[in-house]
Amino acid sequence: MTDLVQQLLGTTFQNPIVLASGTCGYGEELDGLLDIDTVGALVIKAVTLEPRAGNASPRVAEFGAGMLNSIGLANVGVDRVLAEKLPWLSARLRHARVIVNVAGRTAEEYGELLRRLDDAAAFVAYELNVSCPNVKEGGAVFCSREDLLAGAVRAARAATARPLIVKLAPNIPDVGRMAEVAVAEGADALTLVNTMPGLLYDLDSRRPVLGAGSGGVSGAALLPIGVHAVRQARRRVQVPLVGAGGVRSAADVVQYLLAGASLVQLGTVLFADPRAPERVLNGLRRYVRQARLEHWTELIGAGLEP
Ligand SMILES: Cc1cc2nc3c(=O)[nH]c(=O)nc-3n(C[C@H](O)[C@H](O)[C@H](O)COP(=O)(O)O)c2cc1C
Repeated sequence: MTDLVQQLLGTTFQNPIVLASGTCGYGEELDGLLDIDTVGALVIKAVTLEPRAGNASPRVAEFGAGMLNSIGLANVGVDRVLAEKLPWLSARLRHARVIVNVAGRTAEEYGELLRRLDDAAAFVAYELNVSCPNVKEGGAVFCSREDLLAGAVRAARAATARPLIVKLAPNIPDVGRMAEVAVAEGADALTLVNTMPGLLYDLDSRRPVLGAGSGGVSGAALLPIGVHAVRQARRRVQVPLVGAGGVRSAADVVQYLLAGASLVQLGTVLFADPRAPERVLNGLRRYVRQARLEHWTELIGAGLEP
């Protein structure tokens, strides 16, 4: 069997496949449908300081090339994550790593969240969801402005010595520049991309299909957008990159690797095919064998022009 191990952020990932935040709950939800201990890592649903009920339903809608969602960061809050969710994952997993996704409404909240979580043993890194609105700045999304992004990453960096992965949105004019800002403030790695804003109507009622109105596009439609964002970031920063968006197959994973990603997330595909990680890993091993590579990591950045 081809060895798919990846070593980065001071951690050994048994393979480069990561379950995306918001699509695997806290692990328990998927376990049984898939052996969650077989993936490289899973990123738990965004944690906020207080529990959140989330947005009005319906919260998800399918379309031809993916999904539209507006979950509204529904989650159990940091206290229950510490008391129940992380201990469950710690007891359940021997090989797969856990990454904690956090969402704040202000820069200070990111710092506060990380201080609360930092003593827990069960996880290897934070993923900062900076695609959410800053309530002190009229709801501007953190990663849409250099000053807001810098403030959030700085507050997080000051609160922890653990690896910090900053997750950027695709709908920012210069992904490379925002990647530089995040790294300058201490990001150890970047995830690209989060969902893309979108809207669909119900043709009978002529109202938006989602209870919240608009939402985030994920799934197949995001693949070239995410691959492009990874390449843009790769040209400007040296830190490891985590690709996300539209991955459904091993071939899609290779797209992200060629653009420079070291790990690749699977999200929306899990709803239709919870066993996708197993299928994708088998496909990746086959690809590496057929391409006669000495090690799969040779693919990382192999699609970048010299
Ligand atoms: C239902 C749903 C919930 C999500 N929740 C989060 C979240 O809590 N935090 C976050 O950073 N990203 C969240 N995302 C974004 C995914 O982690 C991922 O970046 C995005 O869906 C693109 O990958 P995909 O096309 O493979 O789904 C969510 C996506 C979906 C579909």
